[in-house]
Amino acid sequence: MISLIVARSRNNVIGKDGNMPWHIPEELSQFKALTIGNTVIMGRKTFEAIGHPLKQRTNIIVSATLSLHEKDCFTVHSLKEAIEKSPADQDIYIAGGYRLYQEAIPIVDVMYITEVDLFIEGGDTFFPCFDPSAFEKDIMETQGDTIRYTRTVYRRKENENGNS
Ligand SMILES: NC(=O)c1ccc[n+]([C@@H]2O[C@H](COP(=O)([O-])OP(=O)(O)OC[C@H]3O[C@@H](n4cnc5c(N)ncnc54)[C@H](OP(=O)(O)O)[C@@H]3O)[C@@H](O)[C@H]2O)c1
Repeated sequence: MISLIVARSRNNVIGKDGNMPWHIPEELSQFKALTIGNTVIMGRKTFEAIGHPLKQRTNIIVSATLSLHEKDCFTVHSLKEAIEKSPADQDIYIAGGYRLYQEAIPIVDVMYITEVDLFIEGGDTFFPCFDPSAFEKDIMETQGDTIRYTRTVYRRKENENGNS
């Protein structure tokens, strides 16, 4: 199972000045719940923004400039290589940024998209445009006291051959 996971603003911003443009600790709970025990694939800048390997997960960082070789935290040169080197018994979560999302959208089974109810001025990283008709969309709960956010799940529709 290959999924992507992202939080985006009303105007599609996912990053600003190298970081997430909001701080919503409770929003991160889903990320943790889904990814623990599984594999997270991310770009080098996203890894640097997090600042450390994610515990209890296989961290695979796509980069041509960084070189890490731990069992649970290592670098590769492409999304394809990252997927090939993911442990077979773990689900894969692609966690950004822009290029990885863009490459992943055509191949993911599921997209976990949190819609953050903010309009971000000056954002510099965006979630790529995609064809929503390729997916079934479930709108989950809206939460948040100060910053409201709504979880959505896009599951790829099966084609005529029964394949997703
Ligand atoms: N809101 C969210 O859910 C969310 C999620 C993720 C990230 N973010 C934010 O987005 C920003 C970072 O994203 P970003 O798009 O600027 O950078 P990024 O994708 O995290 O990192 C870019 C770097 O990763 C490597 N890379 C990425 N995709 C690659 C590919 N397909 N093939 C080969 N190398 C690849 C390259 O590293 P080298 O230069 O080392 O070769 C590239 O310079 C930050 O602000 C972060 O906080 C937000």
